[in-house]
Amino acid sequence: MTWVGREVRVRRYPAGPVAPGDFEVVEIEVPDPAPGQVLVRNTWTSVDPGLRLRLRPDAPAGYFAAFPLGQAMDGVMALGEVVESRAPGFAPGDIVSHAQGWREYAVVDPAAIQLGGVGTLTRLDVGDAEVSWFLGPLGGMGLTAYAGLHVVDALRGGETVWVSAAAGAVGSLVAQIAKLCGHRVIASAGSDEKVAWLREDLGVEAFNYRDGDLGAQLQDLAPEGIDVYFDSVGGDHLEAALDHLNRSGRVAMCGSISEYESESKGPRNLFLTVSKDLTLRGFRGSSNLHLREEMQDRLAAWLRSGELVHRESVFAGLESAPRALAEMIAGRTIGKTLVSIG
Ligand SMILES: NC(=O)c1ccc[n+]([C@@H]2O[C@H](COP(=O)([O-])OP(=O)(O)OC[C@H]3O[C@@H](n4cnc5c(N)ncnc54)[C@H](OP(=O)(O)O)[C@@H]3O)[C@@H](O)[C@H]2O)c1
Repeated sequence: MTWVGREVRVRRYPAGPVAPGDFEVVEIEVPDPAPGQVLVRNTWTSVDPGLRLRLRPDAPAGYFAAFPLGQAMDGVMALGEVVESRAPGFAPGDIVSHAQGWREYAVVDPAAIQLGGVGTLTRLDVGDAEVSWFLGPLGGMGLTAYAGLHVVDALRGGETVWVSAAAGAVGSLVAQIAKLCGHRVIASAGSDEKVAWLREDLGVEAFNYRDGDLGAQLQDLAPEGIDVYFDSVGGDHLEAALDHLNRSGRVAMCGSISEYESESKGPRNLFLTVSKDLTLRGFRGSSNLHLREEMQDRLAAWLRSGELVHRESVFAGLESAPRALAEMIAGRTIGKTLVSIG
């Protein structure tokens, strides 16, 4: 049987904020799967800030490769249903995750290691979960949140933890995991609606970083200082954290979204890492696959018991993926940003 489906391609690399016109949606005849391959009909695809780092001729050193112009975008997480299998271990009807998102049909090679292993074709045992959670708390977002707290030794509780971009996919999980582990959590986000959600639904202290001086707001909430900072923003946020971290404080360097569409903004106070014996620890979720099972067990239990709240901003239809990316970076989505397909 011949399948026809659409895929998103990059037309040009954006100079500033990403816009839907930087992409095109193209209809193609889907190739038949070769021996050893699987044909998947995608149902969900992910929208991640990291995609913006690959919308340029050269992605940052050590990161996933830049997206070539005029081709389907490889290395974007997706969920779907197997419609044809020529690979052992996969059968029509299987629900799978893989890394050939932003398209309606994908021909996937199960032997190919994708996105450091996080995106390698995997059959999912969905159980009583929602399928889309495997792009959120039970997938790469959960792993990133859990691994980030792990690498700065912050899964044991008893400290004060500041989480930035806390109403987003990773941040909302970090804030809740840290709280469930027994920390005092201070969360920041860029709108009053987000702050209300963080306070009322997630039960953490929260402030709007646009409401005045970042350092003054942190000082008001944590006059005794912070012990751990989970950084998704970089720039002014990281600078404020260095000012407010206590001696031997730790930073989980998860991302620096304030710099993805502009020049680097600092921090200007790096000497504080020396004077206060601080640890700044960069990490990638995909480098911590050994934590995935433990993370899924713990987060699935918290989701089942209602102790972990998960929220999604869903855009309908493949053609909405570029708009979803722009809206997310601009701060107009809450929780995990996703595109539903089909
Ligand atoms: N290390 C890893 O393996 C890994 C894996 C996944 C993601 N990440 C990183 O984790 C971070 C969060 O990713 P996510 O998928 O969870 O995205 P997200 O938080 O759901 O969405 C990004 C949010 O960042 C905030 N933001 C944008 N520009 C900002 C600025 N200049 N200052 C402060 N906040 C800003 C916006 O919310 P506001 O309304 O609050 O401004 C926006 O909604 C990103 O830096 C991403 O690159 C790292």
